[in-house]
Amino acid sequence: MPTIAVYDTKPYDREFMMAAAAAGQVDWVFHEFRLSADTAATARGATAVCGFVNDRIDRGCLETLADVGIRHVALRCAGFNNVALDVARELGIAVTRVPAYSPHAVAEHTVALVLTLNRRIHRAWNRVRELNFSLTGLVGFDLHGKTCGIVGTGRIGRVTAEIFRGFGMRVVAHDPFPMIDWAASHGVEYMPLADLLATSDIVSLHLPLTPQTHHLLNAESVRQLKPGAMLVNTSRGKLIDTTAVIDALKQGRLGGLAIDVYEEEEGVFFEDLSGQVLQDDELSRLLTFPNVLITAHQAFLTREALGEIARVTVENAVRQSRGEPFLPGTLLE
Ligand code: NAI
Repeated sequence: MPTIAVYDTKPYDREFMMAAAAAGQVDWVFHEFRLSADTAATARGATAVCGFVNDRIDRGCLETLADVGIRHVALRCAGFNNVALDVARELGIAVTRVPAYSPHAVAEHTVALVLTLNRRIHRAWNRVRELNFSLTGLVGFDLHGKTCGIVGTGRIGRVTAEIFRGFGMRVVAHDPFPMIDWAASHGVEYMPLADLLATSDIVSLHLPLTPQTHHLLNAESVRQLKPGAMLVNTSRGKLIDTTAVIDALKQGRLGGLAIDVYEEEEGVFFEDLSGQVLQDDELSRLLTFPNVLITAHQAFLTREALGEIARVTVENAVRQSRGEPFLPGTLLE
């Protein structure tokens, strides 16, 4: 029976993981702390480790995992920018992920952020609770007829584009690997990134974080945005240079920012810091803007997505323990 050491777990992870395994199918060791070089030795005795987006699975971590006999790292997320894959290969550790647990979960959260920020629902909700029924400052715009730019038309980007098409928006897209047939059948128009930035009222990021996409939205590209545009990021925080975006917000060039991910989210997101002094000055500044909406990496958080993540993790751990191939498309090579 495989023993899976699961890191950075919250009650909802444990609930869905345990429900996915039949009784006696898997031994679980749940840790609340994150997986890193400092904590990897705690995997001793397990057959696999299960990590999440802010675990730091670098060389030091992987070398310790190899030393304690781990041959399988099962990521319970789609992104894998936090894993030194070349080192894992060198050490003979298989790394799997859950590539498509629910593109709808992330796409629908993206749209929720856009609607909330545009129609000031977050501000209205607070006001009404205080019996302040004034509408001043709550003016939004019709999505219908506006242009949405989707950067990255993979699984999540395509679902997001289709939802925005349903609002009657013009949808433009940029991707080095365009999906021509899909675009034709959904009325989506591909264009170079600079054109997309210049024409979109809303720009939504749906691409992976790689050395090439790090700070894709920087001081120069933020200047290319249409004045007053809304920028949305539910992918990875480091796609955006926070300093550049704060400047654009202060100058009023950027109309709004909706983010579910943040450049320095590690150690902040997923934690209750309500009794502490926030040490991150840029996050503190972002929280002061009326036109910035932040959620703490919750786009994946639906019952369907958690269930699918748990199912794939359990299935892969069981397969690895029996020497069988992993589920198709989940092994990172
Ligand atoms: P995917 O792999 O299906 O699609 C990514 C797309 O980005 C591909 O079509 C690729 O060609 C494109 N791309 C790569 N480089 C690009 C560039 N420089 N410019 C434009 N497009 C580029 O990935 P999927 O499943 O759609 O996920 C997208 C991202 O969403 C993931 O990388 C992950 O970081 C993030 N994510 C966030 C979650 C959250 O809870 N906030 C949950 C799940 C994923």
